[in-house]
Amino acid sequence: MRISDTSDLWWKTAVIYCLDVQTFMDWNDDGMGDFTGLAERIDYLAELGVTCLWLMPFYPTTDRDDGYDITDYYGVDPRLGSAGDFVEVVRTARDRGMRVIVDLVVNHTSDKHPWFRAARSSKTSPFRDFYVWRDTEPPSTKAEVAFPDREDSIWEHDAKTKEWYLHRFYRTQPDLNITNPRVRDEIVKTMGFWLELGISGFRVDAVPFMIETTGVDQAELDRFPDPHEFLRHLRSFVGRRTGDGILLGEVNVPHREQKLFFGGKNGGELTMQFDFIGMQNLYLSLARQDARPLARALRRRPAISSESQWATFVRNHDELTLDKLSESEREEVFDAFGPEPDMQLYGRGLRRRLPPMLDGDPRRLRMVYSLLFSLPGTPVLFYGEEIGMGENLAIEGRLAVRTPMQWTGQRNGGFSNAPPSRLRRPLTEGSFGPEHVNVASQRSDPESLLAFISMLIKRYRESPELGWADFAVLDQPLRHVLAHECAWDDRRIVAVHNLSPESCTVPLTLHHCDSSYHLLDLLRDSDHLELDDSGRVEVTLDGYGYRWLRLMPRNSRRLA
Ligand code: GLC
Repeated sequence: MRISDTSDLWWKTAVIYCLDVQTFMDWNDDGMGDFTGLAERIDYLAELGVTCLWLMPFYPTTDRDDGYDITDYYGVDPRLGSAGDFVEVVRTARDRGMRVIVDLVVNHTSDKHPWFRAARSSKTSPFRDFYVWRDTEPPSTKAEVAFPDREDSIWEHDAKTKEWYLHRFYRTQPDLNITNPRVRDEIVKTMGFWLELGISGFRVDAVPFMIETTGVDQAELDRFPDPHEFLRHLRSFVGRRTGDGILLGEVNVPHREQKLFFGGKNGGELTMQFDFIGMQNLYLSLARQDARPLARALRRRPAISSESQWATFVRNHDELTLDKLSESEREEVFDAFGPEPDMQLYGRGLRRRLPPMLDGDPRRLRMVYSLLFSLPGTPVLFYGEEIGMGENLAIEGRLAVRTPMQWTGQRNGGFSNAPPSRLRRPLTEGSFGPEHVNVASQRSDPESLLAFISMLIKRYRESPELGWADFAVLDQPLRHVLAHECAWDDRRIVAVHNLSPESCTVPLTLHHCDSSYHLLDLLRDSDHLELDDSGRVEVTLDGYGYRWLRLMPRNSRRLA
């Protein structure tokens, strides 16, 4: 592996941080976060060690799905600032060595987008075919809706033209017709526009829905025989325009199907995909205090090309979906982490953040983040995770986890000086509220979660094998322990995590090793473990303990 490969494929060792401008920092005190506020906080993110920002939708919107219903792909929501303010953020980030990716939401538009207004005005509108219509009454599609609390069909009747249009999400989000070459051109043009403003790629929303062809007729299908061809086209377009830009796809399907979205074994479609299956099994493992579901999911994760990558996460901005677990497994996770009906959503997920789910237990919380940063892949943080923010269940639906960032213990958590009633969204309250959980107090406390996560990020960034590695789950006898190894080039890291509250000793055998090697503890300074002649070693762990151990020849002069 050459140095140039490691820096060209920057995303293989990135630390991605997802935030929503509207809830991050309000600089003009109107109650709404803004780009100027974000620019002021870029140094905080750089200090944390973030290398790539993912901005949730900031475009003009009707706000029926928190910005995922866009009315203008080329604009900036004026409440957040101007296109100039956006560019200032991108430039400031770049100056601090940080890249920016933005949400690309092109499965659907808002129903107030000019294309849809035109499309629904008459059957002969030149934009009619931008969307998917049917003229006969649809069968029941209740089982297919994404938001069962508000929708019971993926088709909505349109009174004026007396036909039904397709909407995978809310009825206010009509699906674009991807088989229409004009739609595909518009998508590419949108991407080209933002790339020209200096971003490094896109988080691509709802990819399987975006390229699906439900509801289109045979003639349309004939002109779009291979939906994956379009993803290949987008990947090479981003590559041509930027050289090293990425497509990070939201593809919540079983692992083997995800492989198709990477473009099979040779890659060429999405650059990265979130590991939803790994995440769901992580929660099952945590609930059972049994590492085997996670180990199984990791072992079954398909091999992908070296130009592709998994994105690992423990929490995102949506409900914590458990839809790929069996019903009884899901119930176990609900019982452990969200037993009240109000904590659950759509029958498939939880609307809580991790710290309250773990009753604020700092040992367990740290163990989970140690796991996140040591699993093979690129870690993605959701804003506020680094300080241990909680949710506010009084806020509707998924928005419970999208409360304003908690900067200080002062009024409005330092997010804004507007009267509380004018805030974009109420803050979290109680023991996870800003008086107890905030950046300012944690910055000056070396024992804080923020300090711990910064340290993990530092170690992760010093350990490129975690992003590049050949990965293996190591055999050992304790079911509550996950031991895994990442090896790349001449580097090898062994990570061991204890999912239970009892301390334990984990016997491991490291192949191709003998007593000429030892293990350097990367999280506890200057601690070494010796191997015997057959590569055997015993690793002790506290309850919810974790260790990252780098294998080194005894005579190595490497620092770590
Ligand atoms: C994705 C987003 C979600 C949004 C949906 C529709 O799943 O993560 O927040 O509601 O797409 O755009």
